Amino acid sequence: MDAIKAIMERVSTRKFSDRHITDEELRIILDAAMAGPSATNARPFSFIVVRDKEMLGKMADANMKYSEPLRGADVGILVCGDLERAYAAAPDFWVVDGTIAAQNMILAAHALGIGSCWLGTWPVEERVENHKKLFDLPENIIPHSLIAFGFPEGEFRKQKDRYEEDRVHFEKW
Ligand SMILES: Cc1cc2nc3c(=O)[nH]c(=O)nc-3n(C[C@H](O)[C@H](O)[C@H](O)COP(=O)(O)O)c2cc1C
Repeated sequence: MDAIKAIMERVSTRKFSDRHITDEELRIILDAAMAGPSATNARPFSFIVVRDKEMLGKMADANMKYSEPLRGADVGILVCGDLERAYAAAPDFWVVDGTIAAQNMILAAHALGIGSCWLGTWPVEERVENHKKLFDLPENIIPHSLIAFGFPEGEFRKQKDRYEEDRVHFEKW
């Protein structure tokens, strides 16, 4: 699929069918995660990929409110920052790098016909702590975002045109 088409068509999917994502599709999604730009090319991220239904339920609990889509998902991926790999002079870039990885996965999934829903984790401290406990994460690994993946139940919802003229400033404010 054309990149612009994937970007413009993508929508959050919260109801998933029983169709499974193949290992090959999953590999493409994870490849996309690691293909994006990152500060000094540090790639300070790691991914916990879960198919087990019981664990998906525990992750939904850990991520608290509004995380129900994960319970019906085929795969859940917890994107984590790795502070030991972060750019030492400006380690906060790990958040930006993790965000790009998450969005790349979502767009790659859409291009494959796979739906997704981003479930916000960082910077909500309780959610971050819950995932750290659930996975017994080392100190340097910080949960960033949780993404539910699966083939949509029915067709993808049609995305709206969100272009707003007044958000764009050419040459000056
Ligand atoms: C940082 C972030 C956190 C989000 N958290 C949730 C969430 O907890 N639960 C949920 O159902 N959707 C969540 N979303 C999805 C947004 O609700 C969704 O992207 C937004 O409403 C726009 O709809 P669209 O993705 O279909 O274009 C989140 C998205 C982002 C980027």
